Amino acid sequence: MRTQFSSDALSSVPADLLVVGVAQGKLTDALAGLGAFAGALAKLAAEEEFTGKAGSSLAAPSFGQVAAGRVLLVGLGEVKASDVRAAAGTAGNQARAKGHKNVALAFPGVTPDVCAALEAFAEGNYRFDKYKTGPKKAAAESLTLVGVAEDAAAVARAEAMIAGQTLARDLVNEPAAEIYPESLARVAEGLASDRVSVTVLDFDTIVAKGMGGIVGVGQGSTRKPRFVHMTYTPAGAQKGHLAFVGKGVTFDSGGLSLKPSDGMQTMRCDMAGAAAVIGAMKTISQLQPSVRVDVIFGAVENMMSGDSYKLGDILKMYNGKRVEIHNTDAEGRLVLADCLHYASELKPDAIVDLATLTGAAVIALGDWYSALYTRDDALAASLAGFAQDAGEAVWRMPLVDMYKDKLKAEWGDMKNVGSRAGGSITAALFLSDFVSGDAKWAHIDIAGPAFLDSALLHYAAGGTGTMVRTLARWAETHQKG
Ligand code: BES
Ligand code: MN
Ligand code: ZN
Repeated sequence: MRTQFSSDALSSVPADLLVVGVAQGKLTDALAGLGAFAGALAKLAAEEEFTGKAGSSLAAPSFGQVAAGRVLLVGLGEVKASDVRAAAGTAGNQARAKGHKNVALAFPGVTPDVCAALEAFAEGNYRFDKYKTGPKKAAAESLTLVGVAEDAAAVARAEAMIAGQTLARDLVNEPAAEIYPESLARVAEGLASDRVSVTVLDFDTIVAKGMGGIVGVGQGSTRKPRFVHMTYTPAGAQKGHLAFVGKGVTFDSGGLSLKPSDGMQTMRCDMAGAAAVIGAMKTISQLQPSVRVDVIFGAVENMMSGDSYKLGDILKMYNGKRVEIHNTDAEGRLVLADCLHYASELKPDAIVDLATLTGAAVIALGDWYSALYTRDDALAASLAGFAQDAGEAVWRMPLVDMYKDKLKAEWGDMKNVGSRAGGSITAALFLSDFVSGDAKWAHIDIAGPAFLDSALLHYAAGGTGTMVRTLARWAETHQKG
């Protein structure tokens, strides 16, 4: 999508769709640039009770009264940053619903955050329709910001953010027949450049290295696991070092602890953590921040076969600990555990893992909030801040040692499941045992927001690419110390 800036009067902006942001109660001001058409629109708005409330919108054909073919009014409410984002997202969504190719976006009387507006528009404009045959609604080809000061840096930044997020969404939405361990690793390899190195370990090497969690989960599938390590190295002086770890279960059938069909239907989304860290790497390689970033994920299919790992098996993990298997559907933590140990050995300043880890996180926080676990208050606060700036949402949950008892095992060092109660917390506690050294660590359970069963706000159903923008913002600002 091309982005351009225009200082034309609203009435003369040529577009298939002209979107006008309207602050609550400021309809007359917002419509002022529409000339003679303003009166008719104001009348329609009164009839439809459109007053600029956040989240509301009103569309009308222009009947040739202005240069644009249609006008869409979107409510800006109190014009908070989140209101502007939501309005731009609605614009993107409605433009795609109608297949408008050339869209103009104006916020009369408001100075919008250009990057946020572009991100949200693209986010709303996204659909995954490659497997639909027949006529499709076109994505926007150009977006013109009207009455907004030209800002090339903000456009470039937004484009980088959108590229990473869109990649993550596509990867999540692709069926597991397309995205399996080997093909996911190939996507990572495709991001290799002079600043990004990519190492892929095959199954034999994973076995030889003793990554027993990845081996156990992956051994039942004919599509064998891959271990992927990507490194972004800044061109100039390196000012810090972050590691992003993702859960890359390309399909989670549950294994021998088989999921019922309902629960399995969308389990191609179980690599959303890996997709997000790959997406973040794509964004970062475009933004070129002065921090080193390592991305690590295990790409694994959790399947049922004569080779599957079994209940009562005791896996020797990459860090040497022994884990007793009580449920083969609690597989993500086993894969992540080995990745977290590997990440710890790189000695970064901080490690964050992203994972569609537990149904319990979905029950607790629903579709919008990711569950954030960390023992570090400063890291929690900064991640929450980056998420807010990115228009994403994390909610801090308690990482309390009190519940560690639930992971006590009879034969091994620990079980791979705790209790049903607080299941997202015991999963996080399990992971904490595989992080070592001085790195700060946070775990983000994205099981709710990573994949939407039905459309939410301006997001289409399916993968959301959640946390790509949060991680990228962190990489932009992180400095060691
Ligand atoms: N991938 C699932 C978690 C999940 C559930 C992600 C719903 C997205 C939406 C995970 O591997 C899993 O199966 N977790 C189990 C753990 C249990 C067996 C301890 C769960 O949450 O039920
Ligand atoms: Mn599972
Ligand atoms: Zn899973």
